[in-house]
This record gives sequence, C-alpha cells and structure tokens, in this order.
Amino acid sequence: MIIRLLNPGEGAPAARLAGLAPGAADWPASEYERIALDRSGSAFCLVAEEPAGEMAGLLAATLAAGEAEVQNLAVVPEKRRRGLASGLLTAALERLAAAGAQSVWLEVRESNQEAIAFYERHGFRRAGRRPGYYASPPEAALILTLQKP
Ligand SMILES: CC(C)(COP(=O)(O)OP(=O)(O)OC[C@H]1O[C@@H](n2cnc3c(N)ncnc32)[C@H](O)[C@@H]1OP(=O)(O)O)[C@@H](O)C(=O)NCCC(=O)NCCS
Repeated sequence: MIIRLLNPGEGAPAARLAGLAPGAADWPASEYERIALDRSGSAFCLVAEEPAGEMAGLLAATLAAGEAEVQNLAVVPEKRRRGLASGLLTAALERLAAAGAQSVWLEVRESNQEAIAFYERHGFRRAGRRPGYYASPPEAALILTLQKP
C-alpha cells in the first residue's frame, strides 16, 4: 500500500472513487482539486494506492485552531477489510498531530455501522448526535471524536 497526497489534476478520479462508496460524502471533482491545491496547511487529501498506481482509497481532513475534522473517507468496495482505511487514518492522524491538532471530530450517518465500527476500533468515542443532519435520505448524524491524536 502506498499512501500519498492527492495531486492537482486528480480531482476526477478521486470523485469517481468516492462515488463507488455510498456513505462517503459525494463531492464534485472541483472540491478535490481545491484541496489538492491548498497551500495553507488547513486541508489535505490522502490517497491509498493498492497496488501501486491504482487509487483505491482516500481521506480528506481539515485543521483549524487545533481542531481537526475528517471530512471524507472512502475505500473501493473490492479492497475493503485489507487495512487501507486504517493506513489512511493513521497517516492523517500523524500529520494532524504534527500540525498541532488537539482533537479530531467527524460526523457519520447513524446507520453506517461499518464506518462507526471502523472509527471506534481506532479509538474514536461518541460525543453527540445531530437529528436530521443528513438529507436524501434524512437521517441523524453521530458525532465521533478522538482527543489528542
Ligand atoms: C468505512 C471504510 C472506509 C473502512 O475501510 P476499510 O479499508 O475496509 O477498513 P480497514 O480494513 O482499515 O478496517 C479496519 C477495522 O475497522 C473495522 N471495520 C471495517 N469495516 C467493517 C465492517 N464492514 N464491519 C465491521 N467492522 C468493520 C474492523 O475492526 C476492521 O478490522 P478487521 O478487518 O481486522 O476486523 C469502508 O467500509 C468504506 O469505504 N465505507 C463506505 C464509505 C463510508 O462509509 N465512509 C465513512 C464516512 S464517515
């Protein structure tokens, strides 16, 4: 597995990958391009290649005033349960800790048992619930957090 930053020009394949993973945020290619071009250090997108040269997973995160947020995470269905998301999250947490993150937050649909199990396996804890947070279909969000990544 290779973990690296998303490059400018890779917005379209990143959007295609996330489109294969219902449960991931459905961002347009332009959103990935914006993050790939970010030079402020406040946003990044990591991709996992498996095998080398084949984009199989991605994770996007932001950091502001010591608070980080995992904004998107997706692994293509045929390459799940092989540690790709774990590799992406571990690399992202290292970057965020080095950049001064004190806590990491995220929202997840409360029916998304696989993602909730994944994050809890990595030490995230339930910190709240936002009723009606999601549309199409409407659903509550669970708020998960990891302190001192
Ligand atoms: C959630 C997701 C990113 C996990 O990716 P992955 O590469 O399969 O995760 P890993 O292989 O690193 O899994 C690590 C651990 O997480 C937990 N886990 C992952 N998928 C799970 C599942 N379907 N059911 C139960 N536990 C699961 C397990 O503890 C797993 O360890 P194990 O395989 O030794 O049992 C993937 O299922 C996905 O892309 N889902 C759709 C998009 C999504 O929901 N994104 C999250 C939005 S908040």
